[in-house]
Amino acid sequence: MSPDEMKPDGIKEAKPLWHGRFSEGPSDELMRFTESLSFDERLAGDDIAGSRAHVRMLARVGLLTKEEEKAILAALDRVEAELTDGTFGFEPSDEDIHTAVERRVTELAGDAGAKLHTGRSRNDQVALDLRLYLRREGRAVAQRIHGLQDVLLRRAGEAETVYLPGYTHLQRAQPVLLGHHLLAHFWALARDVERWRELLDRADVSPLGAGALAGSSLPLDPDFVAAELGFARRFENSLDAVSDRDFVAEALFAAALTQVHLSRMGEEIVLWSSDEFGFLVLSDAYATGSSMLPQKRNPDVAELARGSAGRLIGHLTGLLATLKGLPLAYNRDLQGDKEPLFDALDTCGRALVALTGLLATAEFVPERMQAAADVPASAAADLAELLVEAGVPFREAHAAIGSLVRQAAERGVPLEELVMTEPRLGPDALAVLEPGQAVQRRTTPGGAGPKPLKRQLTEARGRLKEQRGWLGR
Ligand code: ARG
Repeated sequence: MSPDEMKPDGIKEAKPLWHGRFSEGPSDELMRFTESLSFDERLAGDDIAGSRAHVRMLARVGLLTKEEEKAILAALDRVEAELTDGTFGFEPSDEDIHTAVERRVTELAGDAGAKLHTGRSRNDQVALDLRLYLRREGRAVAQRIHGLQDVLLRRAGEAETVYLPGYTHLQRAQPVLLGHHLLAHFWALARDVERWRELLDRADVSPLGAGALAGSSLPLDPDFVAAELGFARRFENSLDAVSDRDFVAEALFAAALTQVHLSRMGEEIVLWSSDEFGFLVLSDAYATGSSMLPQKRNPDVAELARGSAGRLIGHLTGLLATLKGLPLAYNRDLQGDKEPLFDALDTCGRALVALTGLLATAEFVPERMQAAADVPASAAADLAELLVEAGVPFREAHAAIGSLVRQAAERGVPLEELVMTEPRLGPDALAVLEPGQAVQRRTTPGGAGPKPLKRQLTEARGRLKEQRGWLGR
C-alpha cells in the first residue's frame, strides 16, 4: 500500500472511481456532503437492468468479447443477489449506487468488469435509472388511483337513492345524490390516471448513449439499448438527454395534483365525520384514538392525506427552482431530483391505499344526510324553475321566491304556507317541497338526479375498463 493510500491513522483510504486525476483522496466532509447512496440505493435494480442492456450492446458492437460479456453479466447477477439478500458490502468510497455496483462488478469480474463503464457516464446512467424507476412506480401510483376509483364507483352504485345537501361556499345549495357526489371525486381521479399515462408516455425515452454530454467516439448503439430496455425511443440530443428532468417535474406535478385531490376528499371526510355533520362513521380500522381523550375517534388518515399535499406541492416548486438556473448539461444540482420524487410517489401511493380502505369500510349515515338536505329552502331553485315553466322571466322568478324565503325566515312561517300564497305557483309547488323530491328534478345530462346518474355510472364503469386495458389488469 503506497503512503498516499494511507490515512494518518493508518486506515486504508477509499478511492473514488475518478481517482486517476487526483493525487489526494476526498475529504470525509466532501464524501458526506456529496454522496447520494443513502437515498439512491433503491435504484439498484434499475441500475443493474441498465447495465445488463449496456453490456449486451457493448458485446454486440464488438467492444466486449463473448467471454467478457458473460463474465460481467454473471457478476451483475451476483451483485443483484447480494443486494437482494442484504450481503452486499458497501465501501466508504461508494458515492452512489452506480459506483457501488461498478466497483463490486470489477471485484468479481476483474478486467472484464473494468470495461463495464465503457462509453457510459453516470450522467446518462442516472437519467436512465430514474426513468426506469418512474416507469414502474408511476404506473403503480396510477394503479392505486384506479383502486380508489373502483371503491368510489362501487359505493356510488350502492348509494342508490341516498341524497345529501350539495354545497357552495359550504352553505347548503341544492340536494344531490350521494352517488353523484362520490363520482365527482371519481372523475377528478380519472383525469389523474390520464395525466400519469400521458407523462409516462413522454418519459418513455432512453438517454443511455449520451455519455457525459456529447456521445462517444466508440460505435455505441443507443437504439439497441432503448429496445432492449423496452423504451419506445432513444434521445435525440445528448445534451438534452443528460440534463432533461422534465419527466421528474411532470411526475411531481401529477403526484401533487393527485394529492390535492386526495386532500379535498380528506377535507370532506374530516367534515362529514364530525358530530356537526354526522354524515360518515369511520370504521375502527381507519380511525385513530386520542392519547388523552378516551371518547375520541379521529380521522387522521384523511388529515394526513390533506396535509401531505403541502409537502408534495413543495417538492414540485423545489425541483423547478433547482432546474431554472442550470446551464446545459449535467450539473450536480440534479442529484437533488431523487428524494422529492421518491417521497412524492411513496406518499401519494400510501395515501391512496389508506383512503381506499377508509372509503371501502366507512359507513354513510343517510338519515343525517337527508335530514340536512330536506330543509325546504334547498328547493328554492326548483320553485323558481316552476315559475319559469309558467312563463315568468327567470330574474323575476328568482326575486319572487327569494322574497318568500325571506318572509318565511323573518316571520317564522313555514315556506310551504307562503308558497300557497303565490298565485303563479300551482299544486306542483308543494310536491317539490316534499322530502327527497328536489333531487328527483335534476334531470339534465351530468346532473345530480337519478336519471343522469344512471348514465354516469355506466360511463364510469366504461372508463375503469378502459383504464384496465392500459394498466394491464
Ligand atoms: N449521484 C449522481 C446523481 O444522482 C450521479 C451522477 C453523478 N455524475 C457526476 N458527474 N458527478 O445525479
